Amino acid sequence: MKTILYYFTGTGNSLAVAEGLCRRLPDCELVPIASVVKSSGRIAPEADRVGITAPVYFSGLPAIVADFSLRLDLSKVPYSFAVLTLGGSGGTPALHQLERILTQGPGKRGLDAGFTVKMPGNYVLMYSPPNEATIAKILAQADRRVEEIAGMVEQGVQKRPSMPLFGSLVQHLIYPRFVTSVHDADRKFTVDDRCTSCGRCVQVCPVENIRLEEGRPVWLHHCEQCMACIQLCPALAIQAGNKTEKRDRYCHPGLRLKSPK
Ligand SMILES: Cc1cc2nc3c(=O)[nH]c(=O)nc-3n(C[C@H](O)[C@H](O)[C@H](O)COP(=O)(O)O)c2cc1C
Ligand code: SF4
Ligand code: SF4
Repeated sequence: MKTILYYFTGTGNSLAVAEGLCRRLPDCELVPIASVVKSSGRIAPEADRVGITAPVYFSGLPAIVADFSLRLDLSKVPYSFAVLTLGGSGGTPALHQLERILTQGPGKRGLDAGFTVKMPGNYVLMYSPPNEATIAKILAQADRRVEEIAGMVEQGVQKRPSMPLFGSLVQHLIYPRFVTSVHDADRKFTVDDRCTSCGRCVQVCPVENIRLEEGRPVWLHHCEQCMACIQLCPALAIQAGNKTEKRDRYCHPGLRLKSPK
């Protein structure tokens, strides 16, 4: 039974969940959403199961995931599911947004099941990550949750997302402002003198939004605000405003990176 699992990740949490699911589901293929959206038109996967794994941003979907879902036609897919990762709250409205997009999209077919997995929060523009012990605890719980979700997916469990009134209100209040300015929000990113011109920020950006000019990163204004460049710079040289300098950095410990040059 073939599964295609589409994913988007900045700091590796959603990729770790996607990999954990794929290890447990037979004949599973992982496909980065950032590579699929480069083509135009309808996306109509042929598989017995199709899943989407991505982070929650401001109680909604990353813009790239919303755009991808608008083009996704699941009408010929027997079972579809989503697994969203998040630091705290907002998973239900984000799942519901995905359901709404898919049912209005080309396939007019939504999800059979939607799940969330709590992970360490990575939004360094607002907070530092939890301490090491807490991260270890959250990741151990997440592993168990992924195991449980894989079991439910194998059984074809039906768990359609629904929207509670409060979740709808929160999403309505915070998501639109985020999503209308997201691509340009890299204008507040700066690089300081600790930059070693290693090129890792270019390498980790999932949407090719950074190039090096005279050895320094330049942002190209199609940012997804995934935080990867800020979180993964080995020199801690990338800032956004004056608060990030004092904050610790986070990425999922399983994230495999090529060494910077
Ligand atoms: C722009 C942005 C907005 C976020 N908004 C939320 C949110 O509304 N609720 C939440 O629980 N976590 C939020 N987070 C935290 C991420 O959802 C969480 O850390 C996720 O697991 C990161 O996944 P990744 O490592 O695959 O990128 C946000 C993170 C970012 C970067
Ligand atoms: S990752 Fe950091 S040190 Fe490396 S080029 Fe980018 S800003 Fe400079
Ligand atoms: S520029 Fe930085 S925050 Fe924006 S998408 Fe790329 S890695 Fe993510």
